[in-house]
Amino acid sequence: MGIVNVPLGNRSYKINIGAGLVHRLGAECARLGLGTRCAIISDTNVAPRFGKTAHEALAKAGFAPTLITIPAGETAKSLKTVEACYNQLAAQRLERKSFIVALGGGVVGDLAGFVAATYLRGLPFVQVPTTLLAQVDSSVGGKVGLNLKAGKNLVGAFHQPRLVLCDLDTLASLPMREFRAGLAEVIKYGIIYDARLFQQLERDLPKLLLRDTRALAAVIARCCEIKAEVVQQDETEGGLRAILNFGHTIGHALEAISHYGKYLHGEAISIGQVAAAELSAQILDLPAPEVARIETIFHRAGLPTRLKLNPPQRKKLLTAMQLDKKVSGGEVKFVLARRLGAVEFGQRVPLAALERCLTPHPSPLTP
Ligand SMILES: NC(=O)c1ccc[n+]([C@@H]2O[C@H](COP(=O)([O-])OP(=O)(O)OC[C@H]3O[C@@H](n4cnc5c(N)ncnc54)[C@H](O)[C@@H]3O)[C@@H](O)[C@H]2O)c1
Ligand SMILES: [Zn+2]
Repeated sequence: MGIVNVPLGNRSYKINIGAGLVHRLGAECARLGLGTRCAIISDTNVAPRFGKTAHEALAKAGFAPTLITIPAGETAKSLKTVEACYNQLAAQRLERKSFIVALGGGVVGDLAGFVAATYLRGLPFVQVPTTLLAQVDSSVGGKVGLNLKAGKNLVGAFHQPRLVLCDLDTLASLPMREFRAGLAEVIKYGIIYDARLFQQLERDLPKLLLRDTRALAAVIARCCEIKAEVVQQDETEGGLRAILNFGHTIGHALEAISHYGKYLHGEAISIGQVAAAELSAQILDLPAPEVARIETIFHRAGLPTRLKLNPPQRKKLLTAMQLDKKVSGGEVKFVLARRLGAVEFGQRVPLAALERCLTPHPSPLTP
């Protein structure tokens, strides 16, 4: 089993990565000295698969768990679901020492984390992420929240988990499209922080696509380590943490203009990262062969890399980028790469360069 430490003073915690960890949930929680009552929050896809195992593991370790199941999908990340969870926690008489277990993907993690951050002014919580995206990204770092009609993730808090258990066995049932979407975040870590990881991904991609446990364990651990290092240096997103948004300015805008229906987040940021690599070539002299390697790996992972937008759609995308909540002072700033493994945030991009990169042009992959 791999262990990654997230050193944040008195909010420090461990990320365990390995097989069979849901079975160990109770034993691991017992070490944290938490209260007896707890609630497992899961969704309608995950609860039937792993809810019983999680419940039994907690009960065997002497806890009194209750299982709360929310609807699967992004629309459940709402105030309405939060209220339904609060009511169930009250009915089960959870108290200050009780804790919450988030068992599911990023939606469950963000929502259950928000419930934990706010119920009784804050309960401890444990993340058991069951999607690749949640294991390498959303379960680590303490950002929790929900969506409003006006936009995604507009309400939230920083609330670090007490423990993260990445059980690789849970990934076996993940739909292939969701798995590939998670790979888009995995590849991102190579580009922003670690050229050796990028090389390892180029080499091991076939094994990863077959969900080989050893290959996955090594890669997930490295991604968590990188996220932990970045978060440790900038817990509340004042600066460096922005590098995690490589490819996300265009990605978020693309998700917004397609009304969150056409692309999964991972697919949108795959396109966004290829576009950001091209902008990086123009602005920070990222060498052309590295741009090609970036596009190639997303393509090999089965992810989309290009957009075919007509002029009105392009205009909509540019407007959406200006509305992204990461924009400050009306200027769109980008995370751009100088070379593989080294990026810089807060980069100004001239509108003309942005328009050029969003206008259809030949790809090295489809000559
Ligand atoms: N807090 C953060 O730092 C952060 C970072 C990135 C993303 N996010 C958030 O994460 C969310 C996306 O997370 P996601 O991609 O995990 O989506 P998700 O939670 O919606 O999961 C994707 C789908 O897979 C299903 N599923 C989950 N685990 C499964 C399993 N093991 N087997 C079969 N099906 C399974 C889910 O029910 C869902 O239908 C977004 O809301 C995003 O805003 C948060
Ligand atoms: Zn992302």
